[in-house]
Amino acid sequence: MNKISAAITAVAGYVPDYILTNQELEKMVDTNDEWITSRTGIKERRILKGEGQGVSVMGIAAVNRLLEKRGIKADEIDLLICATVTGDMIFPATANIICDKVGATNAWSYDINAACSGFLYALATGSKFIEAGTHKKVVIVGADKMSAIIDYTDRQTCVIFGDGAGAVLLEPNEEGLGIQDSILKSDGSGCKHLHQKAGGSAYPPTMETVTAKQHFVYQEGQSVFKFAVVGMADVAEEIMKRNNLTGDDIAWLVPHQANKRIIDATAKRCGLPDEKVMLNIHRYGNTTSGTLPLCLWDYESQLKKGDNILLAAFGGGFTWGSIWIKWAY
Ligand code: UT7
Repeated sequence: MNKISAAITAVAGYVPDYILTNQELEKMVDTNDEWITSRTGIKERRILKGEGQGVSVMGIAAVNRLLEKRGIKADEIDLLICATVTGDMIFPATANIICDKVGATNAWSYDINAACSGFLYALATGSKFIEAGTHKKVVIVGADKMSAIIDYTDRQTCVIFGDGAGAVLLEPNEEGLGIQDSILKSDGSGCKHLHQKAGGSAYPPTMETVTAKQHFVYQEGQSVFKFAVVGMADVAEEIMKRNNLTGDDIAWLVPHQANKRIIDATAKRCGLPDEKVMLNIHRYGNTTSGTLPLCLWDYESQLKKGDNILLAAFGGGFTWGSIWIKWAY
């Protein structure tokens, strides 16, 4: 029997209808379209509005689209992993909620919190269950409702983040396609540069934590930028080198969409021209766990069977990593 690899066999995404433009942000904080565009590449982002609308709303929509596309029923899913830092609640896992609402009654499910690298971590983890031969259909969701933890009076963070979700289906492949290699890293000493201070067990919610705005994203932009620009490029280069891949071999780079300048630096280090780099940061901003599957969703029609695709991300933790995939359809 041939070796079993885990292949992505369908991709879907969901972004909310509401578009928050740079022009609208100009009316909210002291910023301007020129600054946001030149420093980040972002023009607009999507926001999920409505009371009680958690991140699961987007995850459910993405998974329902995924199932419809692949023509399978929810009860065929064996496992669903949701990467998110903005779960509906501290517990239960958002993955449990998604499974309930889509009718994935035979699946077990859990969340992974690895910030902007969450989708990579979940994809690497989920693929192991397929490779082991114990699971046939694994759904990986990357979803975040960043607007729930953003201070819209803080111009340093509110211009960057947006809401969105993507999902992929993993199935066994015996043609040598699918996930080929992954390198994942973490360094918890990066916590001080990027975190949400309160709401967890260290600093549970109090009137004081709310007043001090400690339930919002805290980011030292410049420090994170310096680590991200090196970390993402390093790990993408490392996975290429250890698999003897050059820029000519790679059909697409799928980079985390945090800042266009970080994306450009990674592409340059990998020897990849702009036309091989997936980009949608101008439309969605940084959707944290959502960026990579949303890129795959946007570019799916341009992908060909056998294409070498390099995913790379860097984010809070710090966490970072890269996955090499041979596209399967
Ligand atoms: O996805 C998770 C990982 N996160 C990242 O990868 C984010 C990495 N960091 C970044 O992308 C960038 O650092 C930012 C986009 C967050 C900021 O860009 P920057 O080029 O590093 O700007 P800066 O923080 O050095 O600020 C430059 C200037 C400052 O003014 P002064 O001190 O030079 O007068 C800021 O106060 O720009 C000012 N500034 C703004 N001006 C207009 C900061 N934010 C804004 C804004 N509009 N929104």
